[in-house]
Amino acid sequence: MTRGTIEFHDLHPTPADLAAEVLAGLRRRPRSIPPKFFYDAEGSRLFDAITQTPEYYPTRTELAILHAQAAEIAARVGTGSLLVEPGGGSCSKVRILLQGLRPCAYVPMDIAREHLWVAAEQVAAEFPWLEVHAACTDFTRLMEVPTTAPEGPRVAFFPGSSIGNFDPPGAVDFLAAVAGLVGPGGFLLIGVDLKKDRARLNAAYNDAAGVTAAFNRNLLARINRELGADFDLAAWRHLAFYNEDLGRIEMHLVSERAQTVRLDGETFDFTAGETLHTENSYKYTVEELQQLAAEAGFQPEAVWTDSEGLFSVHLLRAIEGDR
Ligand code: AVJ
Repeated sequence: MTRGTIEFHDLHPTPADLAAEVLAGLRRRPRSIPPKFFYDAEGSRLFDAITQTPEYYPTRTELAILHAQAAEIAARVGTGSLLVEPGGGSCSKVRILLQGLRPCAYVPMDIAREHLWVAAEQVAAEFPWLEVHAACTDFTRLMEVPTTAPEGPRVAFFPGSSIGNFDPPGAVDFLAAVAGLVGPGGFLLIGVDLKKDRARLNAAYNDAAGVTAAFNRNLLARINRELGADFDLAAWRHLAFYNEDLGRIEMHLVSERAQTVRLDGETFDFTAGETLHTENSYKYTVEELQQLAAEAGFQPEAVWTDSEGLFSVHLLRAIEGDR
């Protein structure tokens, strides 16, 4: 394909995938729904709004680190690579790197189809020399580069502390899959939210304007819209707190009264105060993340943080040979 154009690869989850995972989550105890389902069009919009709130420091802090280190990153990684971004829905942070990295192609992968299409098209328009292969896929399940993409030394970009959505063993599995994707000697540039005082963390997930609460509740609205469930949105309260023992923010929706929800011919009874666990967001020290990465076959190349020690960006390199 010619440069400056874009190719779409659609492996978007079907309504059946959503229904199966939501039903499984409602049947188990404690009840939970995977956070990847937050990102329908409205959820993606709300997430972008979260990143604009004064309390949510990760996005702007990571952007500042990337801006400050873009030249250093390019010097270490080199040009002509195949740049893959699992979860690169809005393609915003990668813009900081493109000029310096000059990759042979950029492959954003995301579950949010419309969001991805629009963003990928903008990147292709903005960087006319760049070949873009947008792949709509749930990267937690499948991680393959579209076969029509060109070859180059592979670099994965995984910003935003999305790694925090996995529990630590799941993070190792994911990182090992990325190591397989980039191959021996390939790079991973990953943004990771750091452990810090609980007040700062709690505030970031309980913004005063209520955007995070709306984002959380939209999950139920989406399930109503797409699966015909009958969640009463007014009867569910946003709950987010830092669980210090487990090193993670937990997000839940709390049933404010005893209630019954219908979905797909099945009924689900909730007691007053029962929670539906919607997200974990693990926080790691630099050393903890490097330890997980080592277990997955990566060695640390460099790590950068901001002056307040809020957020980290790691450059990792997949070790050569078998692990
Ligand atoms: C996109 C998963 C990194 O955990 O901070 C933001 C999602 N949830 N506010 C995070 C999120 C609530 C975010 N990640």
